[in-house]
Amino acid sequence: MKSVKIQVPATTANLGPGFDALGVALNLYNVIELGEETSEWEDPFFANAAQLFFQTAKKDPQAYNIKITGDVPPSRGLGSSVTVRLGIIAALNESYGKPLENEVLFQLVTELEGHPDNAAPACFGGFVAGSPKHHHRFPVTTDLKFVTIIPNFNLQTTDARKILPETIPFKDSVQNIQNTALITAAFASQEYKTLDGAFEDRLHQPFRLEMIPGAESALKVAQDKEALGAFLSGAGPSLIALTLKNEEAIGEAMAVELAKQGLHTPAVKILQACNDGWKRL
Ligand code: HSE
Repeated sequence: MKSVKIQVPATTANLGPGFDALGVALNLYNVIELGEETSEWEDPFFANAAQLFFQTAKKDPQAYNIKITGDVPPSRGLGSSVTVRLGIIAALNESYGKPLENEVLFQLVTELEGHPDNAAPACFGGFVAGSPKHHHRFPVTTDLKFVTIIPNFNLQTTDARKILPETIPFKDSVQNIQNTALITAAFASQEYKTLDGAFEDRLHQPFRLEMIPGAESALKVAQDKEALGAFLSGAGPSLIALTLKNEEAIGEAMAVELAKQGLHTPAVKILQACNDGWKRL
């Protein structure tokens, strides 16, 4: 078999209040290369994705070498696990003659992840709102900058989900619904100025931010520097500020807040949305 290379974008999920519902693809990429046949998958994480493909496509299972290159840092809240899972499934799908539609690839990756908000933008690009069943995608202007602060420690999503409470007060869920509706409407209409103040979340950020020293003041300083808002990217630990101006100053100020807490100076990347999903190189 000829080797197949798939490029998959990083993604940011939740955008604050839109827990398990909203996501955006970013112009930071991993490349997953499916190589020669081998006797077994070197990693169970790879094997699970491949097994789901073979079962769904009704093909005989076969192991292959996998090579991962690219710039999406692992376990930082930027969708690296989706780049690998989707990369493997899309590469197998290409090499077996595309038996599955992109929509099915999305469903398979969502099943592996347990939530759709990274899988959807990685498959379809742009801003995506939805559930495992239905989703709506909107293109995002490249004028909107995603100032991304990447601390140099990992947080596993499974651990960051375990710390979430069983119940939250009714008025907090109402505020999350209001803000998620506002964010979706702002992206759908491309009236990004109305994002101002819409990123406040009561479902998960208050609990997760406690694990990231300096994160709360970094989010606040982004607002002081006139960002439209800032939030924890996915389950963290990366933070993202959205802005139409001052992106360099916002990134610098946020990094300083984290560094003040004795963390190593985080990486700062000024990203924009990627309006395409995965592609074959
Ligand atoms: N919605 C998921 C979570 C995203 O917050 O746990 C993980 O990237």
